[in-house]
Amino acid sequence: MGIRKGIIGLCILSLFVVTGCGNGHSEVENPEKGENAVESIELLVDKNTAGSGEVIGISVLATMEDGEVLIVTKEVEIATSLTVDDERRLVVPEDALSGEDYAIEIEYKGIGASENIKVVNLLSETIDSEGLIIEPDVLDMVVNKERTLPAEYIPENLVTVRVPTCLENEEIKQMRKVAADALFNMFEEAKVEGLELVARSGYRSYKTQTALYNGYVSRHGQDYADKYSALPGQSEHQSGLAMDITAQSSGLQLEDYFGDTEEGMWVSDHAHEYGFIIRYPLGMEDITGYLYEPWHLRYLGVDLATEVYESGLTLEEYFMSFEE
Ligand code: DAL
Ligand code: ZN
Repeated sequence: MGIRKGIIGLCILSLFVVTGCGNGHSEVENPEKGENAVESIELLVDKNTAGSGEVIGISVLATMEDGEVLIVTKEVEIATSLTVDDERRLVVPEDALSGEDYAIEIEYKGIGASENIKVVNLLSETIDSEGLIIEPDVLDMVVNKERTLPAEYIPENLVTVRVPTCLENEEIKQMRKVAADALFNMFEEAKVEGLELVARSGYRSYKTQTALYNGYVSRHGQDYADKYSALPGQSEHQSGLAMDITAQSSGLQLEDYFGDTEEGMWVSDHAHEYGFIIRYPLGMEDITGYLYEPWHLRYLGVDLATEVYESGLTLEEYFMSFEE
C-alpha cells in the first residue's frame, strides 16, 4: 500500500538543550559529546494508528558510538504533512479518513529514520448511544444493522450517474458526486476491457427504502427479507455511496451468478482501484448481516477500499481489527 500523503511540510526547530526527559535514557547538555559520533537513531511513536484529531507523542533516541543512548527528540528535523505542535507531537487532521497513511521522516546529524501513521476512525467512536451515525457525510462512515443513518439524512452532492442504467426511477440513478465520478471511471475501464457494466440501483431515500423493505417483507416474510434487504435507515443506499451493478450477461438482474460472470470477476478484482469494495462477500452473512451480493458496491475512496480489499476482510472485520 503506497503512502497517500506525500511529505509536503518541513518543520525545522532550532537546537535545544534537552532537559527534564526521563525514560531511563541519558539527558544531554551537549549532544555533540566531543568526538563521540552518532551511530544510529530510532524514532518511537506512541502509536502507529490514530483517529482524526488525535495527538501522537514521539521520541527519538540516538545511540552514540560509545553505546550511550541519548534522547534527542527536540533536536531532530521532522518532515511530515501532519502538524507538529510545540511539544513536537504529531496532530492528525480533523478531517482525516480511515485508510490514509502519513509518513514521518526525521533526521539527526545526517542520519534518518521514518515511521508511518495510519488513520483509523474507530467505529465505536462514530455512533451515539442510540446507534445513530454521528457524521453521516464522511466517506469512511459505516452503516449496518448496528449503525443507523438519521431518517432525515439526505446526502449532499447527489448527481445522476453518467453510466448506462436499466431502471427508469430517476432517484436511484443518483450517487454522491465523488462516487459517481469513480463509477464512471470504473465503467470506462471495464469498456476498454470489452466489458459492458450497467448500473441498476444507487441512492435510495429513507422513504424508498421503507417501501422496498416493506414489499420484501410482505412477499417473503421478515426473517428472509432481513437477510437481503436493510431496514430503512440501515441501508448504504441512503448514503449515496452504494450502487448495485449488473450486466447483460446477468439479464440485468441482481443474481449471485453475476459474481461468476466475466464482468463480475473483473469488478471483484478491480473495484478497489476506483475506491469501491464488494460490501457483502460470499459466506460472510454472520459478520455483515447480509447474504452474498456480488453486485453491491460501496464507495470508500481508493485508500480505504484498497486497504480493505488487500486485508481480505469485510468492512466490519477490518475496523474491528483495530479495536482494543
Ligand atoms: N441489499 C442491501 C443490504 C440494502 O438493502 O441496502
Ligand atoms: Zn445494494
